Amino acid sequence: MVADRLYERVARRLAEQIDQELYRPGDRLPGVRRLARQFGVSISTVVQAQRLLEDEGRIEARPRSGYYVRAQAWPRPRPPSISRPPVRPVPVTGQELVLRLVQAANEPDFVQLGAAVPAPEFLPTRAIQRALAAAARSGGASLATYQFPPGSPELRRQIARRMADAGCRLAPDEIVITSGCQEALVLALRAVAAPGDVVAIESPSFYGLLQAIESLGLKALEIPTDPASGISLEALELALEKWPVRACVLTANFSNPLGCVMPEARKQALVTLLARHGIPLIEDDIYGDLGFAGGRPKALRAFDEAGGVLYCASFSKTLSPGLRVGWMVPGRWREQVEYLKYVTSLAAPTLSQRAVAGFLHHGGYDRHLRQVRSAYARQVALVTRAVGKYFPEGTRVTRPRGGFVIWLQLPDKTDALGLCRRALERRISIAPGPVFSASGKYRNCIRLNCAQPWNDVLDRALMTLGRMAGDGS
Ligand SMILES: Cc1ncc(COP(=O)(O)O)c(C=O)c1O
Repeated sequence: MVADRLYERVARRLAEQIDQELYRPGDRLPGVRRLARQFGVSISTVVQAQRLLEDEGRIEARPRSGYYVRAQAWPRPRPPSISRPPVRPVPVTGQELVLRLVQAANEPDFVQLGAAVPAPEFLPTRAIQRALAAAARSGGASLATYQFPPGSPELRRQIARRMADAGCRLAPDEIVITSGCQEALVLALRAVAAPGDVVAIESPSFYGLLQAIESLGLKALEIPTDPASGISLEALELALEKWPVRACVLTANFSNPLGCVMPEARKQALVTLLARHGIPLIEDDIYGDLGFAGGRPKALRAFDEAGGVLYCASFSKTLSPGLRVGWMVPGRWREQVEYLKYVTSLAAPTLSQRAVAGFLHHGGYDRHLRQVRSAYARQVALVTRAVGKYFPEGTRVTRPRGGFVIWLQLPDKTDALGLCRRALERRISIAPGPVFSASGKYRNCIRLNCAQPWNDVLDRALMTLGRMAGDGS
């Protein structure tokens, strides 16, 4: 498990201040006593935090003078510009490569920069093992039977409590347990749309969603999205007037792949806009608990007064993807969703539900989140730095505010699919841009999963990738 030490948190907060240009290259950082007072920590904690930032190359010590922000030896990559997909509904095709990509995530000798799956070092594996063992011991006869929808009452109670942090006041009865967030998205789409219908999505969009749209025979309408503030409400409003949109699917908190968060006012405006048009909003909040700084951002569901939001999430990115425990708050569609869950897979796994309920009940989840949030912030900073160092000039990189993926816009001539194939030959997996689009856009983009422990192997893999992206070799 990754360490969560106070000095690491202090280092992350200092790094943020440098990113926000509170201190610019060449500026002297305040003295240790002052920083200790500012952060409410001891002097030795500040000293350790400064050493960590020195190791990361962010600051340098000057004799008898203290620490200074280092001028970067390579430019910090600029963020990509707002996406410009063709705004017309298209059937989704060509997603077969994705299976190869996710299969690579199971091959131990691969450097896993492709699928958005955290390395085991970032998951509370021991605690989950204990929770599974306790659930198996105490489960008795209940383990030998189905836990029919809506799923475990105890787990739904724990989830309802946690969702208060996302601004949602819920009763456990409003929640339906699913087998992961992917199933939740499929059930939500099936509840509100039929084959041939048009679904508005942000662009680029998580490929699992595109595959769900493809497999249900729906059409995707890609809406321009800003890497800093999310989907363009102006473009969405125009699209709603032009096309018969049946539903909208969005990740407002730390979207995959852009990592952006919609500001609260825009969340409110989005929910109001869709309610006015009578269009269901499917919210994917799987990364909501993984912000690098500040409190837990509100879910879109928090702004929903009419029951028009179908909220979807899971514990795959925070506890374990293998447990396959997710949930939905389906609003007005609760009965349909419960029935669809039942006809699709009868029930979610009983043992997994009991184990997650036990883990949430006995505490440790918030502590784990604190650890992993600062660990992911560090990983993203390290991988971004390596990209600035090794990738061709002009490469643009997102600045996610949570989650653990970054999105790279490489020079125009780059062929991301070719790069992906050549990288697989070298046992490096990456996610090529076109799988994040229904219309084959983002040919020069890739997504990197940063939730891998930083070591020489990872550094070398990024160097290799950067070289391959530069000269095509
Ligand atoms: C945005 C997003 N939604 C849903 C999923 C699928 O989640 P689960 O493993 O819980 O089915 C993922 C996994 O990569 C994801 O990134």
